[in-house]
Amino acid sequence: MLRTHTCGELRIDHVGRQVTLCGWVQRQRDKGGVVWVDLRDRYGITQLIFEEGVTEASLIEKAKSIGREYVIKATGEVVERYAKNDNMPTGDIEISVSALAFLNGSQIPPFTIEDETDGGETLRMKYRYLDIRRKPIREKLELRHLMMQKVREYLNSEQFIEVETPYLIKSTPEGARDFVVPSRMNKNEFYALPQSPQTFKQLLMVGGIDRYFQIVKCFRDEDLRADRQPEFTQIDCEMSFVEQEDILQTFERMTKFLYKEIKGIDLEVFQRISYDEAMRKYGSDKPDLRFGMAFVELNEEVQGRGFMVFDSAELVVGINAEGCAGYTRKQLDVLTDFVKKPQIRAKGLVYVKCNADGTFKSSVDKFFGQDALKGWAEKFGAKPGDLLLILAGETNQTRKALSELRLEIGSRLGLRDEHKIAAVWVLDFPLLEWDEETERYHAMHHPFTSPKPEDIEKLKSAPGAVRANAYDMVINGVEAGGGSIRIHDRELQAEMFDILGFSREEAEAQFGFLMNAFEYGAPPHGGIAFGFDRLCAIMAGEQNIRDFIAFPKNNSGRDVMINSPAKISEEQLNELGIKRVELNGL
Ligand code: AMO
Repeated sequence: MLRTHTCGELRIDHVGRQVTLCGWVQRQRDKGGVVWVDLRDRYGITQLIFEEGVTEASLIEKAKSIGREYVIKATGEVVERYAKNDNMPTGDIEISVSALAFLNGSQIPPFTIEDETDGGETLRMKYRYLDIRRKPIREKLELRHLMMQKVREYLNSEQFIEVETPYLIKSTPEGARDFVVPSRMNKNEFYALPQSPQTFKQLLMVGGIDRYFQIVKCFRDEDLRADRQPEFTQIDCEMSFVEQEDILQTFERMTKFLYKEIKGIDLEVFQRISYDEAMRKYGSDKPDLRFGMAFVELNEEVQGRGFMVFDSAELVVGINAEGCAGYTRKQLDVLTDFVKKPQIRAKGLVYVKCNADGTFKSSVDKFFGQDALKGWAEKFGAKPGDLLLILAGETNQTRKALSELRLEIGSRLGLRDEHKIAAVWVLDFPLLEWDEETERYHAMHHPFTSPKPEDIEKLKSAPGAVRANAYDMVINGVEAGGGSIRIHDRELQAEMFDILGFSREEAEAQFGFLMNAFEYGAPPHGGIAFGFDRLCAIMAGEQNIRDFIAFPKNNSGRDVMINSPAKISEEQLNELGIKRVELNGL
């Protein structure tokens, strides 16, 4: 080893010891007679001191020539500091250096490598290796590492075995587009990178593996957001001879284990809510239940009174922003602008202020008198001082818009506290969802999800009403994971493909391997997959998954450090039998 200790290790009881440290120079302060250097490595920062009268003159000169991010090796004695620094674990001591070696120099870094950096997103991504030297990023990667260990520890203790499945596969219909890879040996044919190992884990169940897991990369060519990356990691799991309840219990225990081991937090029993109730009460299948503010529907109370906006609406629904009756005109205008944003698309916002004196003031006073407004307030359970915010329109869109408003008000009122954890299972998802564009049903989860046995008879007559044995785990309004009990019967699987608009031939060509396997004794099975990057971010109380990934892509799917995707050579294209098409302007 080049070093005897790390830069985070030395304390007051080490005083008098001869040590050697290696690391990067975070900062050098030259005060004439004394030079201090902050030396950083993965474990922390230790101060080095070069002092006239104590340190050899040539060493002091050498110390003066050190630049930021130089890699050095320093040997010396641990001494007690005159001015201690309570903010750092090594703040009681410093190293009085007697030998110094430059292991490597460094260009001046393009941004400061400290907890608070002046580097913008793009610059940080271009020099990600420098960004990773910063403590906030390193700590996120350390959390990710710990999570991986703990996930493996838990699943191993529950008899799951980790099996790797291939990355060069054939398209799986998981809802996004595939990334494809041309085959050199099989011209004009392509592999697809897995959107998830879904079919393979089901085949492992047919293979008798019984309890499988994998911490695995998945690839989806979809629009990117703060919680979505084109390549991301799942904790992918599957179990045989289980019912939905077994899976919910097993993975609720896993989540509690992770919170306990990593954060020292005991989570309460997870809430459970049906998809229908989640949509009705919170307008979302991933409700943030750190706070209430449930929707109250007002159709009965408000329709038929001559106010066109309400009369023509399929749904009139609102929330109670407690204690917000004092909002000014300007604040209400900001909320109105918020719901009118193109992403939210509400036409307007109706408000009712529940005044302290028991009267009401609303934006629809012309149509509704005090008695009517009092009736609404009662339905909301509103007190004097509260503010009712009401939207009207087409049911799904209005719910979605009110869900956004609920989250906005929740944030404004400080109800989305990152230290609070609200975990909920969302259950009983619809099996199918009607797609207006293609005019057919799509699988809401994926085509391998089993309908609820009691709903199977409705598959032909009322497909839209069939519920699935599918579930999502939602933590603080983020979908952490999702899964289902699977179909394990060939005929039912074939019927499902039929409903989804596959011809028998198409289904056979794409999924014959799975349906054939179902003819050789497929056990009842089901599973779940967690978004591992998301779970790490949730655990750290953050929204963006990017910094929990060592080398993430930007919002256009680019890696700006290695500059990919990139063109490939003519030779490579020829080998693959692919012709380059020059697009205009490219
Ligand atoms: P699903 O498609 O719901 O299910 O994915 C499981 C979980 O993966 C996470 N996730 C993502 N995380 C980051 N970036 C993305 N682009 C991304 N897409 C999904 C989410 C999600 O809950 N095979 C099924 C699971 C099963 O049925 O067992 C599947 O992949 O947290």
